Amino acid sequence: MPLVSMRQLLDEAAKGGYGVGAFNVNNMEQIQAIMEAARETKSPAIVQASRGARSYTNDRFLYHLMLAAAELYPEIPMVLHQDHGNSPATCKSAIEMGFTSVMMDGSLMADGKTPSTFEYNVQATREVVEMAHEKGITVEGELGTLGGIEDGHGAGVDPLSHLTDPDQAVEFVGRTGIDALAVAIGTSHGAYKFSKKPTGQTLVMERIIEIHKKLPHTHLVMHGSSSVPQELQDIINKYGGKMRQTYGVPIEEIQLGIRNGVRKINVDTDNRMAMTGAIRKVFFEKPEAFDPRDYMKPAREAMKEVVKARMIAFGQAGHAGDYTPLSLEEVARRYKAGGAAR
Ligand code: G3H
Ligand code: 13P
Ligand code: ZN
Repeated sequence: MPLVSMRQLLDEAAKGGYGVGAFNVNNMEQIQAIMEAARETKSPAIVQASRGARSYTNDRFLYHLMLAAAELYPEIPMVLHQDHGNSPATCKSAIEMGFTSVMMDGSLMADGKTPSTFEYNVQATREVVEMAHEKGITVEGELGTLGGIEDGHGAGVDPLSHLTDPDQAVEFVGRTGIDALAVAIGTSHGAYKFSKKPTGQTLVMERIIEIHKKLPHTHLVMHGSSSVPQELQDIINKYGGKMRQTYGVPIEEIQLGIRNGVRKINVDTDNRMAMTGAIRKVFFEKPEAFDPRDYMKPAREAMKEVVKARMIAFGQAGHAGDYTPLSLEEVARRYKAGGAAR
C-alpha cells in the first residue's frame, strides 16, 4: 500500500471515535517496531520524523525505509508525517521528499524556540496549507506553546496564558484551513513533564473539551503525550541508568481527550525509554556481548510492546482494514472541490 493521507486516517478515526498514536522514528528498528505492532493489532499507523530525525537519517535512508515498510506491510494504511516543521521551507522539502503529512509549527519562530505572534503563525501555516493541499498532503498546525505549568512557562500574571485559547483556535482554523490542530494544555516534550501525578491544574484537559465544542470538525492533536511509565523508569535505573522520578500523561487522560476530539497522539519518549531500558539490561546482564543484534533485537521488541499497548489504549487497534486509502491525487481533488478531504 502506498503512503496515505493523514487527513483520511484521522477522518476515519473521528468516524470510529478512536485516536491514532503518532510515533517518532530515527532508524530501521523503530520503524520495524511500529509496523509489527500495527500488524499484530491491525492498526493504521502514523510514523513521524522530526527535523533532527531527518538530519540523522540523511532523509533518503528514512524515506526508503518507509517504502520498504509500505511494501512489507501492505495491509496497513500508513502515513509519513513531518513532526514540528519549523518553517514553510522545511515543510516544502518534506513534501518533495514524499511525506504525506506535515506539521507547520508556527507557534514558535523558525529557530524552534522563540514564541511567535498569532499573525506570523497564521501566515506561515496558511502558506503551507496552500502548497500541501494542492498535492493532497495533510497539514497540522499548532496554537499555544507546549511546556508545562510546572516548568516556568506562564509564570507571569496568568499561569495559563501559553495554553491554546479556544476562541483564537476558531479564528486560526478558519484563516489557515488546517486539517489538524495541536493544542497546548500543559504537556511538554521529554521525560520530565510533572514532578507528581498531574492534576487538573497542571494538565488542563478542560481546554480540549472547550476547543472541541467550538471546533467539532477539527482533528485535535496532543503532543508530549508519553506516559513515562514507572516500570520503564525502574528498568533504566535498575541497570545503571540515572533518571530522576518523574510523571507523564496518564493514559486515562488521553482517553478522555479521545472522547473529546483528540485524534492524533504524539509519543516518542516512552519508546526511547523502552529501547534504552532493554539495551541497558543486555549490557548489564551480558557484559561479554558485542554483537549489536544482541541488544537491538530486545530494544526493538520492547518498543513494539509499548506501541502495541498504546494502539490498543487509543482504540486504533482493529481498524486497519476499515477503509480503502484514497490516492493523494483524489485527496487533492477533494480539497480543491470542497476545501476538505471528506
Ligand atoms: O518533538 C519532539 C520529538 O520527541 C522529537 O525529538 O527533535 O529530539 O528528534 P527530536
Ligand atoms: P513525548 O516526549 O511526550 O513522547 O512527546 C513527543 C512529541 O510530542 C513529538 O512531537
Ligand atoms: Zn511534539
